Amino acid sequence: MSFRFDKYAHYENSVQTPEEHVRIFERMFLDIRNRQALSLREDFCGTFLISSEWVKSHPGRTALGLDLDPEPLEYGRKHTLSGMTFHEKKRLTLLRENVCTPQKRKSEIIGAGNFSFFIFKTREELKEYFTAALQSLSRDGIFVLEMAGGPGFILSGREQKTYRVRGLGRFTYYWDQKSFDPIHHHGHYAIHFKDRTGRMHRDCFTYDWRVWTIPELREIMKEAGFPETRIYWEDPGPDGQGNGEYIHSEKGDNAHSWIAFVVGIK
Ligand SMILES: C[S@@+](CC[C@H](N)C(=O)[O-])C[C@H]1O[C@@H](n2cnc3c(N)ncnc32)[C@H](O)[C@@H]1O
Repeated sequence: MSFRFDKYAHYENSVQTPEEHVRIFERMFLDIRNRQALSLREDFCGTFLISSEWVKSHPGRTALGLDLDPEPLEYGRKHTLSGMTFHEKKRLTLLRENVCTPQKRKSEIIGAGNFSFFIFKTREELKEYFTAALQSLSRDGIFVLEMAGGPGFILSGREQKTYRVRGLGRFTYYWDQKSFDPIHHHGHYAIHFKDRTGRMHRDCFTYDWRVWTIPELREIMKEAGFPETRIYWEDPGPDGQGNGEYIHSEKGDNAHSWIAFVVGIK
């Protein structure tokens, strides 16, 4: 049988860990509000894996996925929905919408994964997004932004990792940090894949980002009206390498590259 390369399937199976995001979001909400969260809005949802995982994780949970691009939404409708039951699908809503548009429907958690909000280049754009998110949160909602940084995130270079996945076979994922401009803090990044036949697929996904800093985000959240912000930093664990647990912290270690969550609390 001939092999047809599928960039979304390769992305989902190398970049994404939706069950981890669900666990992180639910723990954060529990830590901040001392109760279980039931409603999630997934911003920049693409093929909406996190939303799907969220509704599967509890029979009372609902999710709203927002993305501007019809292509990943359509891909998700074909593939992500096929792994869900009728009742799970009923608790999931997908909208082709700009995340900067306030939503009537309120969510307890609004989450944006994989630094997608780095697409906003100016304080004005980011403030518009944060203001709309604050308006779209329920009374005690939280707004969770996953971000990355450190010298290792701005130096030019490539990382690669090989995966073996059912249906896709053995493939290699490449994370390419193409350039960084320190004057505007703009970075160009790309994802390439080498598929199981050895064929290279360059620039499957490209990113033109502003690499924001944590203090900038906190300041803009404050300007947008969030009464409190918190940082969840990765617990270094016994070997200092990070154990995948994110804890509320006001002190971060100066890691070569890091991922952290900036949380705006309504
Ligand atoms: C990097 S992908 C994220 C995929 C996946 N959610 C993840 O976390 O890995 C970024 C997505 O953001 C969407 N996007 C960009 N600007 C947007 C906006 N203003 N409103 C909604 N979606 C947007 C793009 O269409 C794209 O699907």
